[in-house]
Amino acid sequence: MKAIVYHKYGSPDVLKLEEVDMPTPKDNEVLIKVHAASVNLSDWEGLRGKPLYARIGGLLKPRNKILGSDIAGRVMAAGRNVKRLQPGDDVFGLMWGYKGGFAEYACASENALALKPASMTFEEAATIPQAAVIALQGIRDKGQVQPGQKVLINGAGGGAGTFAVQLAKLYGAEVTGVDNSGKMDFMRALGADHVIDYTKEDFSKNGQQYDLILDVVAHRSVFACQRALRTTGSYFAVGGSVATFFQILLLGPWIRRATGKKVRILAVQPNPKDMVYMTELHEAGKVVPVIDKRYPLSEVPEALRYLGEGRAKGKVVITVE
Ligand SMILES: NC(=O)c1ccc[n+]([C@@H]2O[C@H](COP(=O)([O-])OP(=O)(O)OC[C@H]3O[C@@H](n4cnc5c(N)ncnc54)[C@H](OP(=O)(O)O)[C@@H]3O)[C@@H](O)[C@H]2O)c1
Repeated sequence: MKAIVYHKYGSPDVLKLEEVDMPTPKDNEVLIKVHAASVNLSDWEGLRGKPLYARIGGLLKPRNKILGSDIAGRVMAAGRNVKRLQPGDDVFGLMWGYKGGFAEYACASENALALKPASMTFEEAATIPQAAVIALQGIRDKGQVQPGQKVLINGAGGGAGTFAVQLAKLYGAEVTGVDNSGKMDFMRALGADHVIDYTKEDFSKNGQQYDLILDVVAHRSVFACQRALRTTGSYFAVGGSVATFFQILLLGPWIRRATGKKVRILAVQPNPKDMVYMTELHEAGKVVPVIDKRYPLSEVPEALRYLGEGRAKGKVVITVE
């Protein structure tokens, strides 16, 4: 089969379209003909090996040679312990370890997959597994957003952010979206009540305070984060710098005791139930996957470059012929 492969960390130039062996499903896995895969910041991080957490499992060179965590496609074969799925089923899901999806075929655990509703295209379904589940667990589960609360989403114009803005609005919050200058109108169109251009203004220094901050690109000190929270507010870092994550782990509990404010890392639990819930919101017309651009498999390097350079508004999708 064809796949986009890399053997060392680097720029999109290290990615090559190669012929590789077809994967073989383990007993609990299915073999999927990939129809679409979406690109996440985690793929960009995995390509460059930065931040350091992107090298878990491969400190000097990537252990898994094929990137791509979110796929949608058709089941071609099932391992002997697979009970729920069978060949011919259209499915979508998250590849454990965030790897293997930029290929014509991929193997995934049955537990990581959900049936794709007929109302969604493969491309739309491929946007859900990582980005929408981050948003759902951040806004609904950890954030427990209530009507009238003030919610700030840092990185609101990207993959997880576009779902988070829509969900926070759905749960009745007053939403502030933070992203770069080119995404102001885009965030307003998604439903953000207020927008901040991070290249011109620092949300932690403008005197505003929020009930919930969901930070997709966490780079600030924990003290700056807590300053922007109301007294009972919560801050959750989703992705960002390792230094910020360490600070949160070390000082988050202390801030909680001293101020009552929660400053934590959101450890997302991959969960097909959450993916199905997001498809139900889509069917009800309440949440829309925003696809900025589609690329063929051979152009994964361009797709990653587009996302990595911060130009993507919402999701970038790979369509596999
Ligand atoms: N915690 C977990 O369990 C877990 C699980 C899976 C993934 N993740 C992480 O979650 C993150 C998901 O990101 P995503 O796929 O939504 O990324 P994305 O699509 O690239 O979106 C990130 C957005 O943030 C913007 N941005 C960059 N720097 C910013 C800043 N300083 N202030 C405000 N906005 C900024 C980017 O635009 P510009 O670059 O143009 O500025 C972009 O619009 C990744 O870091 C991934 O590793 C975490």
